Amino acid sequence: MNRVVCPGSFDPITFGHLDIIKRASSLFDEVIIAVMVNQTKKTLFTVEERIEMVREVTSKYPNVKVDSWSGLLVDYCKKNDISIIVKGLRAVTDFDYELQMSQVNLQLQEVETLFLSTAPAHSFLSSSLVKEIASYGGDVSSYIPAALLERLKDRLAGN
Ligand code: PNS
Repeated sequence: MNRVVCPGSFDPITFGHLDIIKRASSLFDEVIIAVMVNQTKKTLFTVEERIEMVREVTSKYPNVKVDSWSGLLVDYCKKNDISIIVKGLRAVTDFDYELQMSQVNLQLQEVETLFLSTAPAHSFLSSSLVKEIASYGGDVSSYIPAALLERLKDRLAGN
């Protein structure tokens, strides 16, 4: 079985992430979304909340599963017998960092990284940008699924 992992913080998941996940799900037998826990990165939503939101908006894809991981991504891959990481590449500015990570992951555990170029409509989109716009009361309904809009608004209001 051709199983791949799509890792990320998903704080929250955006239409940019969903585009990559949908395309990966049509290319591979199984896609596991790994919601990563990074102790040094402060997130707006807890890992449980991020998992719940990712599950909610990807439930229509039968070959997409959601999991979480705290630690090196390559260790997750090894534990689950996965040899391919799929990531979206938005712009040249993503490249240096993504290249570095992919080379480290290749060297550590021989895990390959395949990059899908982000659809042009999402090339500027990031969870950080969504949070910033929403924190000033801006409309983010073109950037994240409708089901998550209230949750984001509530959290930014301090709930
Ligand atoms: O959505 P993000 O925060 O941009 O995703 C980044 C993520 C979580 C995919 C990346 O930081 C990662 O793979 N972290 C896991 C820890 C790890 O394996 N680090 C070594 C890679 S060089």
